[in-house]
Amino acid sequence: MDVGADLAERLAAVDEVERRALAAIAGARDMQELERVRVEQLGKKGAVSQLLRQMGSLPPDLRPAFGRRANEARRVVEEALERRRRELAAAEKQRRLEAETVDVTLPGRPVRLGRRHPLRRVELEIIEIFRGMGFTVAEGPEVEYDYYNFEALNIPPDHPARDMHDTFYLTDRILLRTHTSPVQVRYMRSKAPELPVRIIAPGRVYRRDDDATHSPMFHQVEGLLVDRGISFAHLKGTLAEFARRMFGERTRYRFRPSYFPFTEPSAEMDVSCPICDGDGCRTCGGTGWIEILGSGMVHPAVLREGGYDPEEVTGFAFGMGPERIAMIKYGIDDLRLFFQNDLRFLRQFA
Ligand code: DAH
Repeated sequence: MDVGADLAERLAAVDEVERRALAAIAGARDMQELERVRVEQLGKKGAVSQLLRQMGSLPPDLRPAFGRRANEARRVVEEALERRRRELAAAEKQRRLEAETVDVTLPGRPVRLGRRHPLRRVELEIIEIFRGMGFTVAEGPEVEYDYYNFEALNIPPDHPARDMHDTFYLTDRILLRTHTSPVQVRYMRSKAPELPVRIIAPGRVYRRDDDATHSPMFHQVEGLLVDRGISFAHLKGTLAEFARRMFGERTRYRFRPSYFPFTEPSAEMDVSCPICDGDGCRTCGGTGWIEILGSGMVHPAVLREGGYDPEEVTGFAFGMGPERIAMIKYGIDDLRLFFQNDLRFLRQFA
C-alpha cells in the first residue's frame, strides 16, 4: 500500500468517526443522553479522542495531514455537542414554560368566605336593639368570685337558688360564672354614685348541664338600668320594644310573676310564638307562647352592694339567652347544633 492510499484510508476512518459522532449527538433526546454521547466521543477513551491518540503510531510523514483532519473532527464534534446542548436547554425551558402557563380561560377557584356564627349574629342584634335605646355594652370576667356571682346578688351560701345553677367551682371562692348578673354589681361599683346606669352585658356563662336543651357553656345578655324614678312601666316598655324589634311588629307579649333573688318583684316575659304566630306549634309546645327572658326590679340589697341608695334610686334588670332567642327565631330544636360547627348548618345563616 502506498503512502497516498494509506492516508486516504485513514482520513476516511476519521470521516466515519466524525459521521457517527454527529449522528449520535443529533439523536440525543435530553441532557443525560447528550452527556453520555460526549463521554463516548470525547472522553478519555472516546472514539474521537482515540483518533488523536493514534498519531504517535503513524509514519511521521502522515502525521501533519492526519493530525489536521483529526483535530478538525474534534472541533466539529465539540461544536455540534455545544449546539445540541443549547437546543436541548431551550426545549427544556420551553416545556417548563408551557407546563407553567396559566390558562386564563379556566373557571376560577372560589374562595370560601367565612361568616358570622348564628349565635354571634343574634347577640349583635340584641346589642344593636338596646344600643338604639341608649344602653352601652359592659363586660365582666368569666372566672368570677362566688361573691359577685351569688352573694352580692342576694344569694347567700345556703340559698336554694344556688342548686339551680350547677356551678363549676375552681376553688371554694372562685368559679365559672353561671350567669351574666354579676356584671350588674361590678358595673354599679365602678360607676356609683353616677346616674344613670344603663348597660347590657353579653358574654359566656357555664353550668354543669349537657343535653339537647343545655350546654355546659352558653351565652347570656344581661341588662341593667338604674336611675331616679324608674318603675316597672319602664321595664315593660323597654322589653316590649325589644320583643317587637327582635321578633317583628306583630309580636304580642305577656309578663308572668316569677322569682329571682336579685329582683323584687320578678317577672318572666313570654312572646307570641314567632313560628306559628300564636296558633300553637312544636316550637312553642302548642301553647302559642314562648318564654324569652327573666326580669324584675333590682332588689334593694343589690343596689346597696352596687353602692347606690335604694331610698334614692330604683332600677330594672333582665337576662336572656341568645341560644334560646336564636332557637325561637329560626325554629331550631336542638341546642347542640350551635356548637357542632357543621358547615351545612352554619351556612344557612347568610
Ligand atoms: N340571671 C338569671 C339566670 O341566669 C336571669 C335573670 C333573671 C337576670 C332576672 C336578670 C333578672 O337580670 O332580672 O337565670
